[in-house]
Amino acid sequence: MAKLSVVLLVVSLVGVVQWAKTTNAEGWARRLEAEKENVTNLQFYFHDIVSGKNPTAIKVAQPSENKSATLFGSIMMADDPLTEGPDPNSKPVGRAQGMYGSAGQNELALIMAMNFAFTDGIYNGSCISLLGKNPAMNPVREMPIVGGTGLFRLARGYAIAQTYWLDIATGDAIVGYNVTVVH
Ligand SMILES: *[C@@H]1O[C@H](CO)[C@@H](O)[C@H](O)[C@H]1NC(C)=O
Ligand SMILES: *[C@@H]1O[C@H](CO)[C@@H](O)[C@H](O)[C@H]1NC(C)=O
Ligand SMILES: *[C@@H]1O[C@H](CO)[C@@H](O)[C@H](O)[C@H]1NC(C)=O
Ligand SMILES: *[C@@H]1O[C@H](CO)[C@@H](O)[C@H](O)[C@H]1NC(C)=O
Repeated sequence: MAKLSVVLLVVSLVGVVQWAKTTNAEGWARRLEAEKENVTNLQFYFHDIVSGKNPTAIKVAQPSENKSATLFGSIMMADDPLTEGPDPNSKPVGRAQGMYGSAGQNELALIMAMNFAFTDGIYNGSCISLLGKNPAMNPVREMPIVGGTGLFRLARGYAIAQTYWLDIATGDAIVGYNVTVVH
């Protein structure tokens, strides 16, 4: 019986030491319990207006010589409204703020680096970050979601973008986004 208690004591001490090593290895760093993850699907429309008096996306850089039909090297800064439906006057749900630039020499391939900041309901103040290639002339594009804040902390996932409306002459576009994130 005494032997057994000594064994149990040793086992529990080893346990405590192990805990100290793994959960509190240093005073400034400790591991936390993992929380259960949620999956959220978001569907909204992105309005990118480059023409007219009140563009939502403006060119901030371009190559000194225009050598390509794909506008390779041009960079746009955008603050685009996101709405619930395709109608620009439908309920606003947030804004897409960030940059996109032409990264393709021989194809229209945009590199998108954008923060989608939501403003509606419980999602007001929460953001997701999109970073990836957008071959904008393809009917359907997939881009990675690489992070988030607020309700979307630790988000990762993907965005499926489909052009809903495009004015070829000006480049104005309404794009449907269907985003799935684990967070
Ligand atoms: C998952 O969703 C539930 C219910 O909305 C919420 O209580 C919980 O905090 C969420 N978990 C994470 C990790 O976001
Ligand atoms: C750049 O050149 C291409 C043809 O080489 C032309 O189609 C395009 O309109 C030009 N873009 C600008 C901004 O001048
Ligand atoms: C979102 O939150 C901000 C700051 O808390 C507040 O000013 C704003 O009215 C909210 N927007 C909506 C649509 O609820
Ligand atoms: C959006 O994505 C979800 C999840 O993948 C899917 O169930 C739904 O059918 C998609 N909606 C549209 C309109 O593509």
